[in-house]
Amino acid sequence: MTVTPREDQPTSRITGDARSWWSDAVFYQVYPRSFSDSNGDGIGDLGGVIDRLGYLELLGVDALWLSPVMRSPMADHGYDVSDPRDIDPLFGDLATMDELIVEAHARGIRVTMDLVPNHTSSEHPWFREALADGPGSSTRDRYIFRDGRGPDGAQPPNNWPSVFGGPAWTRITEPDGTPGQWYLHIFAREQPDLNWDNPEVFADLEKTLRFWLHRGIDGFRIDVAHGMAKPEGLPDHDWNTNELLKNDDDDPRFNNPAVHEIHRGIRRVMNEYPHAMAVGEIWVRDNERFGEYVRPDELHLGFNFRLAETAFDADAVRAAIENSLDAVAHVGGTPTWTLSNHDVEREVTRYGGGPRGVTRARAMALVELALPGAAFIYNGAELGLPNVDLPDAALQDPTWERSGHTERGRDGCRVPVPWEGDRPPFGFSTSPDTWLPIPPAWTPLTVESQLEDVDSTLSLYRAALEMRANLPECSGPGIDWYGSPPGCFGFRRSGGLICVLNTTDAPIQLPPGTVLLASAPLADGLLPADSAAWLV
Ligand code: GLC
Ligand code: CA
Repeated sequence: MTVTPREDQPTSRITGDARSWWSDAVFYQVYPRSFSDSNGDGIGDLGGVIDRLGYLELLGVDALWLSPVMRSPMADHGYDVSDPRDIDPLFGDLATMDELIVEAHARGIRVTMDLVPNHTSSEHPWFREALADGPGSSTRDRYIFRDGRGPDGAQPPNNWPSVFGGPAWTRITEPDGTPGQWYLHIFAREQPDLNWDNPEVFADLEKTLRFWLHRGIDGFRIDVAHGMAKPEGLPDHDWNTNELLKNDDDDPRFNNPAVHEIHRGIRRVMNEYPHAMAVGEIWVRDNERFGEYVRPDELHLGFNFRLAETAFDADAVRAAIENSLDAVAHVGGTPTWTLSNHDVEREVTRYGGGPRGVTRARAMALVELALPGAAFIYNGAELGLPNVDLPDAALQDPTWERSGHTERGRDGCRVPVPWEGDRPPFGFSTSPDTWLPIPPAWTPLTVESQLEDVDSTLSLYRAALEMRANLPECSGPGIDWYGSPPGCFGFRRSGGLICVLNTTDAPIQLPPGTVLLASAPLADGLLPADSAAWLV
C-alpha cells in the first residue's frame, strides 16, 4: 500500500550535508512497546511516537532509532520478524509509519529503524515452507537444518547454547510425523537463524532495505551485525565461560570472517541512497576486529558498548573512551557512544541506584555528549529512570522462561516511560493495565514534572543537546587529555569544549575557563563528588 502525500503535508526541515549527518548525530532509541500508547491497549505504538514528536523536538535529538516494528509474533518483542516489509498491527500500519516519517522530518528529526537479518520468526512463511518441504529441500536450505548426532539423531548437531538459555538447536517433527532434523537458533527457538550462504537470503534483505528506503527511512540499526555468518562445519566449542545474553570474542556463534562480505553487500545497496546510514550492533571487544566492521565499504557506524559496560570510575571511563576511539581510528571510522539500551541495565542502577546513581548518570550524560562522534540515548535515560525490580509474574523476556527462571532478563530496563500525572500509567496509556507495570514512585520522574524543573535530569539533557548542536566548541574530531588528580579526568574537544569528570568522594578544583553546564551545582566554584562539568 502506498500513501499519496496530503495536500497539507508538512515540509521537511531536514537540511545539511546529506552524506554525513549521522557522524555527529544524537540518536534517540524508541523502544516502541514502552514509549507511548495511542490506542489504550497498554502497549506503546507508532501512533504514540507521532503524538510525542513535539517532545522529541524539544529534547533536541537529531534522529530516532525505532526498535523493530515489523510484523512479528512478539516472542522476542519484535526481534522475531515474520514479515520484514510490513508493520505489525500492534504498532500500527504502513500508513502510520509513513505519517511518522513525514511528521518527524517536518520537525527536523530523521527516522531509522531496526532490521533483523540474522534470523526470522518461526512464523515467517519461509520457515513454514522449510518445515513442510522436508530434508534436503531448497526451502530448508534458507535456514540451518542438520541431522542430529547419536544413533537415532536424538542429540543436537553441536554443543552450542542459545544466548537466552538452553540449547541453540530444536528438533522438529518431519511432515511424515517422524522425529526429524534440528534447526539452529542462536536466540529463542522462535528465531531460527538464516543460512547466509544461500543467495536468496541476501536478495530478500536487499528487497527489505529498498522497501523502507523508498518510503523515506533514513537508515537502519542492524541487529546482531556480528552474527549472520557461521563457521564452516559448525564446530563444538569449549563453553566453560558461557554467560547468558553475552558473548566472548572466541565464541564461534559470532564474528566469523564471512560476515564482512555481507556488510559489503549491504553497503553497496545503501550507497544508492546517500542520505541513509546503517549502524551495526557489534559485540566484539578486540579493537582490530571491531574496526573491520566500519571500514569504508562496510557499516557507517558500529555500536561500541564499552561505556555501557564501564563502572563509574574515571580511569575505567577514560580507558573505555580511549579504547572506543582507538577501535575506529585505524580505519578512519566514526566513534559511537551509548550508556544503555533495551538489553542492558539502566545506567542509574548500574552506577549504584538511588540519588547517587542519578547523580552519576547525569555526570556520564555530560561525558557522553561531549565526545566526538554519534551518541545514542535510550528512551527514559533523559529522565534518569532506574531499572525496575519486577515481580516474577510480570516478567516477559524469553530469557526468564528459557533459563529455567534463573535469569530475570531485560524487562527491568523496558518499563514504559512516565509522561504526566501522579499515578501509573502516567499518561503512557489510557489503560491502567500496561504491558509492564510502572512503579507508583515515578511521579517525580515524569516528563511533565521534569520539564517544569530547571534542575531536572531532563533539563540537563536539553541544555546539553542544545549546546552540542549550536556551539562551535562542541565540534572537532579529536580530544586531548588534561593531567588530572586521581579519580578525575578532563579532556578538551578540538573545537574547544572542556569536559571534566570527578568520580571521587570530594569536590575538586576546575581548570580555568567559563563553566557552561554542570551535572550538579558547584559549591564555591568547586566541582562536587560524582559530577561533571562543561567549560570553555
Ligand atoms: C539483539 C537485540 C536484542 C534481541 C537479539 C535477538 O541483541 O538488541 O534485544 O533479543 O538481538 O534478535
Ligand atoms: Ca497501543
